[in-house]
Amino acid sequence: MKFFCWFSGLLLCLNFPLQAEEKSIIPASSKLLPAEDLYSQVCAVCHGKSGEGSQVLKAPSIAGLPDWYTLLQIEKFRADLRGTNADDRPGLIMHNLALALDNNQFQGVAKLIALMPMHPTRNTMGGDEKRGKEVFTEVCAKCHRFNGKGEKTFGSAPLIGLQDWYIRAQLHKFREGIRGGSASDEKGFKMHEMARYLSNENASDVTAHIATLAKKYANTKSRRDREIDELNKEKKQKTIDKNALPEELR
Ligand code: HEC
Ligand code: HEC
Repeated sequence: MKFFCWFSGLLLCLNFPLQAEEKSIIPASSKLLPAEDLYSQVCAVCHGKSGEGSQVLKAPSIAGLPDWYTLLQIEKFRADLRGTNADDRPGLIMHNLALALDNNQFQGVAKLIALMPMHPTRNTMGGDEKRGKEVFTEVCAKCHRFNGKGEKTFGSAPLIGLQDWYIRAQLHKFREGIRGGSASDEKGFKMHEMARYLSNENASDVTAHIATLAKKYANTKSRRDREIDELNKEKKQKTIDKNALPEELR
């Protein structure tokens, strides 16, 4: 009950961010918060401290999404291309939030999200992995790559850090044209056309396969581990370079 009251209060703030300024979790737009504070004070309320998402709030796990994809989606929410349909409560919530914040706030927070270790997709809905693999390889891999990591050139999302229930919900929205239904949303429209060929049943087959890909390809390394990898790569490179020189010059 306590949680319910807190959450409905939050929704009220998001619907009326200006009127409810002092009660709102949204900082006044003139005060630009450092990315870490913005994440922990605002985004983490729904997306979780480590970007793991929340099924209760229907908020996806965003940890590890590349910054170009996060910024692209924020842009769509702000431009009324996503989250404006009355049947799309989760979309509406994120739409209102994206508009309530100053646009300059998102660059830093998108970089921070990209550095968070991913929460690999898990199979919680059953589904036939073998059948899913066939559909994925034949249809989805063309844009989302064989490893489900997505592709900047196509604007296609990485799928292997998203929860299976969220993927299914988005496929439903694309199919119904709730997301990507407008031809002016060129990339979303492509996905709208693809989702029409998937029923709810083979959606869970596909998510079962995405969970298999996630085990192999999701980047679950922390920021520190990635920095260490980067240093080791540089060190190795230097040794190789040194060895390439004639002996008297090393
Ligand atoms: C009140 C809850 C709430 C808060 C706070 C919130 N979000 Fe969201 N966010 C959602 C929900 C719900 C969705 C799913 C929308 C949908 O289903 O289309 C979402 C979706 C997103 C997406 C799209 C993910 C994808 O894979 O396409 C991004 C990116 C995002 N949020 C970033 C943020 C950032 C950055 C912040 C902080 C500045 C934030 N959100 C704060 C609820 C929230
Ligand atoms: C023609 C290219 C193309 C194909 C083929 C394609 N997609 Fe996509 N997909 C996209 C693009 C582009 C986006 C980003 C849409 C946007 O910006 O709203 C996307 C987005 C998604 C999302 C939303 C992810 C998120 O973070 O919210 C899901 C889920 C998805 N695709 C699943 C699939 C599945 C499953 C298939 C195979 C049945 C598939 N896609 C086939 C291009 C494609």
